[in-house]
Amino acid sequence: MRHTLAHFRKLRESGEKIAMLTCYDASFAALCDQAGVDTLLVGDSLGMVVQGHDSTLPVTMEDMEYHVRMVARGSQKALIVADLPFASYQVSAEIAFANAARLMVAGAQVVKLEGGRVMADTVRFLVERGIPVCGHIGLTPQSVHQLGGYRVQGKGEEPARQLLEDARAIEQAGAAMVVLEAIPATLAKQVTEALSMPTIGIGAGKDCSGQVLVLHDMLDIYPGRKARFVRNFMAGAPSIAEAIRRYVEAVKAGAFPAPEHTF
Ligand code: KIV
Repeated sequence: MRHTLAHFRKLRESGEKIAMLTCYDASFAALCDQAGVDTLLVGDSLGMVVQGHDSTLPVTMEDMEYHVRMVARGSQKALIVADLPFASYQVSAEIAFANAARLMVAGAQVVKLEGGRVMADTVRFLVERGIPVCGHIGLTPQSVHQLGGYRVQGKGEEPARQLLEDARAIEQAGAAMVVLEAIPATLAKQVTEALSMPTIGIGAGKDCSGQVLVLHDMLDIYPGRKARFVRNFMAGAPSIAEAIRRYVEAVKAGAFPAPEHTF
């Protein structure tokens, strides 16, 4: 049986860390499931690591539905979170609902969207109509041109305060969890303590409720630039299955990320 959101609330309450990985196809979904990955993110990072684009912006709804269907077929236990791609949810809450529903029909249990306070009404609209939402704040890759590159966010007193407000706004709107990307570890800890929903960090230190990495980064099969927060779990591992198992073990033990992977 697939994990439900109640399971993730319990993990957060008990202090057991949540292991999330991105996943884009059925074979990797089965490997991740067997290795004990709690939740699979069908991320729009597929635009870069699978399709070869230099950002996530060109990913379409059709692409996302195709990959969600494969991941759903390949896994049995992991909760499937699917990214709403660029321009599929920002125009209106109604358009966001229509596109989120397509991802749910394809096999997702939760949809993820980028943005804080500005997306709070949309989060509420989806949640009130039965679609669970994962937020994503900090470095939001769909805004890479607005942010001026893939840079650490929330540095300094005012940006940190704004980020905390964003986190609170999406929790109050009913989000079930939130991804915190590329922010100082001290800020991620503060945000995690201020919220009751699980926080999933990527480049956000060890004090989040869980961690996520892009599968192709942690297996070291993406030829592009790697962020400081990535660890190569293939190093010394005899197989891909073992590398994924070691990732889960490191997350559960609180051994990843180490200080050299944080800001
Ligand atoms: O698309 C993705 O892979 C993501 C992660 C970086 C969290 O959103």
